[in-house]
Amino acid sequence: MDSSLIFRRTLVYRVAATLGVTLAAPVAFVGCGAKVVVDSESTGAGGAGGAGGTSSTNSTTDATSSSTGTTACEGTGPLTSFLACFPSTGLTCPPTNEAHGAIAESLDICSCLHSVDAGPKPDPSGNGFCCYDTTIETTCAIGRPLRAEDGPAVAPVEATRRGWSDEPLAPNVEGLSAEAREVLAERWIRDGLFEHASVAAFSRLALVLLAHGADESLVRAAHEAALDEVRHARLSLSLAAAYRGAPVAPRGLPEALSLPLDEGLRELAVSTVIEGAVGETLAAVLAAEQAERASDPAVRRVLASIAEDEARHAELAFRIISFTIAAGGAPVRDAVARAFRDAAGRLPPPPAEPQLAPAVAAAHGHVPCADARAAFVRAMDEVVMPLGRALVEA
Ligand SMILES: [Fe+2]
Ligand SMILES: [Fe+2]
Repeated sequence: MDSSLIFRRTLVYRVAATLGVTLAAPVAFVGCGAKVVVDSESTGAGGAGGAGGTSSTNSTTDATSSSTGTTACEGTGPLTSFLACFPSTGLTCPPTNEAHGAIAESLDICSCLHSVDAGPKPDPSGNGFCCYDTTIETTCAIGRPLRAEDGPAVAPVEATRRGWSDEPLAPNVEGLSAEAREVLAERWIRDGLFEHASVAAFSRLALVLLAHGADESLVRAAHEAALDEVRHARLSLSLAAAYRGAPVAPRGLPEALSLPLDEGLRELAVSTVIEGAVGETLAAVLAAEQAERASDPAVRRVLASIAEDEARHAELAFRIISFTIAAGGAPVRDAVARAFRDAAGRLPPPPAEPQLAPAVAAAHGHVPCADARAAFVRAMDEVVMPLGRALVEA
């Protein structure tokens, strides 16, 4: 059995035991948006986690339908097409140009509505919902992002400043060209900045949990997770510094001073599904996969340690969701069920592939885009969805 499979199995059974839930057959949630379909012309570099489109597995585009959608977001995140569905409020489903409001309302915080392209179409789940070919723009990171007003925020980077990259890590740079070293440095800087921003995201989460009267163990775990992210930022930036041969550090992150703390139980539950149950699980599984393939001992050690921590953060997310359901009852449970269902059709794009020879990329902890995407699908099917289903049915 390969070690990434062991990692996923260990994670799903560990979380199930912690939650005291029983796992049903390992099948994915099926329902609105369950088709994972992606625009093959995805726009380039997105936010966290990088760029690149996701491959199309089931194009739902009806070539005979005209696009009457309107653009509602202006970011630069990758575009994803999927079948969006919502319960009908009348005898018939509204035409395409009147469906924007209901679809926009159903989107999670990681997405904004790009266009409603065609519909209404039959609901493949058989629930009689109104379904439309829809294109959204994904704006979130893999892992827990710092949500600012206009998308995930990271600090600018400052070259040559010490303080965040002093871990004695020594990846093997022998034989690497200066260009290859810089590509690897940039990758770890990007990761490090998102890890650094996650510190603020967990600090905010700890305050929100306190506000809602969460148990001591949840509040403590949120603070511990913030410290884990400090360590991840330090490890990532230290690897970057080693590849570059010079220190590197984040500048200030002023967005941390204006984080919205006014989050109701239902909003906390839904954001935790997206950022924690999905985001942290995908981050953990991807890091485990990268660690398994990395032959460089320093890189492998960093990735394995990050994978272990992110798995614990995913577990924390499921515990928080369980807490919100217990505290908020049926409305929160329904919102959670919907969030998991929606998440099934919204895989974030995998990190961009670096401009490196495949052997060098693999040795230094990259997996090809297609493999990363496959790892995400396995993480959703084998970990996120079975646990989500067990939680809402408990
Ligand atoms: Fe992290
Ligand atoms: Fe994390």
